[in-house]
Amino acid sequence: MEIRIVDDYREMSEKAAALVAEQLRDKNNSVLGLATGSTPEGMYKELVKMYRKSCLDFSTVTTFNLDEYVGLSNQHPQSYCAYMHKHFFDCVNIKPEKINLPSLSKNEADPAKVCRDYDRKIEQAGGIDLQILGIGVNGHIGFNEPAKNLPVGTYLVGLSAETIEANSRFFSSPEEVPRKAITMGVGSIMFAKRILLLASGKSKAPAIRDSFNGYVTTEVPASLLQLHHNSIVLIDKDAASLL
Ligand code: GLP
Repeated sequence: MEIRIVDDYREMSEKAAALVAEQLRDKNNSVLGLATGSTPEGMYKELVKMYRKSCLDFSTVTTFNLDEYVGLSNQHPQSYCAYMHKHFFDCVNIKPEKINLPSLSKNEADPAKVCRDYDRKIEQAGGIDLQILGIGVNGHIGFNEPAKNLPVGTYLVGLSAETIEANSRFFSSPEEVPRKAITMGVGSIMFAKRILLLASGKSKAPAIRDSFNGYVTTEVPASLLQLHHNSIVLIDKDAASLL
């Protein structure tokens, strides 16, 4: 694992987009693992800019998103599906049939099967070439919340009080934040050939300190990235301030 510290959010976003572009130039049919949240918004903006300047082509790219709330419709503005369409999919030439978003309805009869099928699709696509990650204030990646043990594959998860509180800024009240989500497991993430974790701002500094202090624990899920041979932690000075 390599930690790269940059000045600010803008530089983080530009460098992240440059790494994605490099990946696509090396392999134009790359499989990208994509993240949501406020952190990667700048990276998506940069990628859209590059696409508009005809510097990037997404027509042969396949994508798998990390996670999604359970109980929000795809059209709900806070669903990760809506986020991805708004910030990325609808702005570039990615083929709709190559977009994969995990999705679990509240009354799904067999959630375990939906999760297994998602993992199988990732496998059939040849695995993820580059996985983008943000990080939660409690060190979560995707929706892998701190826990004594963590599932390897995609699963249905109950969100922690900290995450509900942190994500309530996108909803009108904490009560509106869904209590459950579907997320890729840490195995699905760690099997990616390359991982790029982004973080910006002082609020992420404790999570960054606890994740990359030389110890691994499922109580700080991002700490597992220290075991990955090709992971880059690209963070700004504020996020790095407690390292
Ligand atoms: C959510 C997502 C994560 C994301 C995290 C941080 O909980 N499930 O994938 O990394 O929030 O979000 P933000 O970048 O908005 O701080």
